[in-house]
Amino acid sequence: MATYNFPSVRELLASAPGDAPVTVRGWVRTKRDSKQICFFEINDGSTLKGIQAVIDKSTVDLQHQIDAMQTGASVVAGGSLVESPGKGQSVELRCDALEVIGTAEDFPLQKKRHGFEYLREIAHLRGRTNTFGAVMRVRNTLATAVHEFFQARGFLYLHAPIVTASDAEGAGAMFRVTTQEPGSAAAADPSQDFFGRAAYLTVSGQLNAEAYATALSRVYTFGPTFRAENSNTTRHLAEFWMIEPEVAFCDLDCTIELAVDFVQHLVRAALERNGEDMAFFDKRIAPGIVANLEQVAQSEFRRMSYTEAIRALAEADADFEHPADWGTDLQTEHERYLCDVIAGGPVVVTDYPRDIKAFYMKQNTDGRTVRAMDVLVPRLGEIIGGSQREENLATLTARMEELGMDTKDYDWYLDLRRYGTVPHSGFGLGFERMVRYVTGMENIRDVIPFPRAPGLASF
Ligand code: 4AD
Ligand code: MG
Repeated sequence: MATYNFPSVRELLASAPGDAPVTVRGWVRTKRDSKQICFFEINDGSTLKGIQAVIDKSTVDLQHQIDAMQTGASVVAGGSLVESPGKGQSVELRCDALEVIGTAEDFPLQKKRHGFEYLREIAHLRGRTNTFGAVMRVRNTLATAVHEFFQARGFLYLHAPIVTASDAEGAGAMFRVTTQEPGSAAAADPSQDFFGRAAYLTVSGQLNAEAYATALSRVYTFGPTFRAENSNTTRHLAEFWMIEPEVAFCDLDCTIELAVDFVQHLVRAALERNGEDMAFFDKRIAPGIVANLEQVAQSEFRRMSYTEAIRALAEADADFEHPADWGTDLQTEHERYLCDVIAGGPVVVTDYPRDIKAFYMKQNTDGRTVRAMDVLVPRLGEIIGGSQREENLATLTARMEELGMDTKDYDWYLDLRRYGTVPHSGFGLGFERMVRYVTGMENIRDVIPFPRAPGLASF
């Protein structure tokens, strides 16, 4: 094991049969041991299917190792690649050397298919299942494609801070960062705390991205964000990853164009590079998803204003739990209806009421709405939230005061309007929502390695 660069199962499966000795390293998925012959499958996570290994007991004596090799054990298996008579693979390993590195007595993943709820309780082991291997490989493709997309378009990757004093979304659902003992006198007085003021985990890197967009023109962040809202839903996490591009000299239409191109690029990347995993999701998790995503990757997204959306929902022949009245936020059921029933695909909703959106959004001249946009997708609802930003100092300050914000705290942000202000726009894509959308997984907790949600932070 002198190099990390030994061939993966994926590479071996793509090789031609031959006499050259090969070594396979991985974990045993299945074993069938009979008198003459032992078949076992080794998976190393590089691909959905493992490699089949065959021991001909009349030529080698490996019974001791075979007996120690339960499902879940780690092994190093040596032999040569031979043409496979079985279906589904062109080569298999004719194994003549076997070392069990770690046994796996009572391995918790014995059954072929476990429920996702059970697997969440053993999140440290669920990566060994087909589903979680496939999810993590698609997640990796999407993360890579994020950078490719922006780098190809001249965007600069910006690392926004995790610890912050500002509440970017004004929603107040923030985790506090402190070094003070709970209940102590110092804890009650943020000026005595580590940063000399109250500090939080960031809900969004946007405000910091705006500072660099108004210097470097096009930037994007891709980092963890945190929300302490107590939402036990299939689309909310307390810790999730967000991608936030911010572009100077760019209005709402420009950011919508960017958002649509971006979503389509990510969908295409998964379809092109993870064919085997996507076929698995199509078969086992969300039938029809591949054809559906192929369609999404090349069709225009339907666009409508919030006001049009409310009208369409009012006329809808549907039994909503929440009424869709002008001035209230769209609920998941409304978002899904717009996509699933009305548009039959993704929808971009624009110009939301100002009272339900964040302070920084550019005000429309009607005095009631802002230049906001959300991208909604079938099965899920909101996947992107963005807007044109208010670049006018007086208008922005007035709005902040109206909302009771202390403008002193945001003086640095207002500086961006004092010195060389410019129309600019951007959006945030929830990375886990995107992974959920592309894989067809039903719960956002199953598309991140270790989910954090209310009451859930083990591992
Ligand atoms: O719509 P949001 O709150 O927008 C912002 O944070 C802006 N600052 C973005 C910007 O304009 N730069 O969040 C953006 C996206 C949502 O559309 C959703 O996909 C995701 O982040 N998101 C969550 N994902 C998982 N769990 C949560 N609790 C999420 N909250 C938002
Ligand atoms: Mg939003």
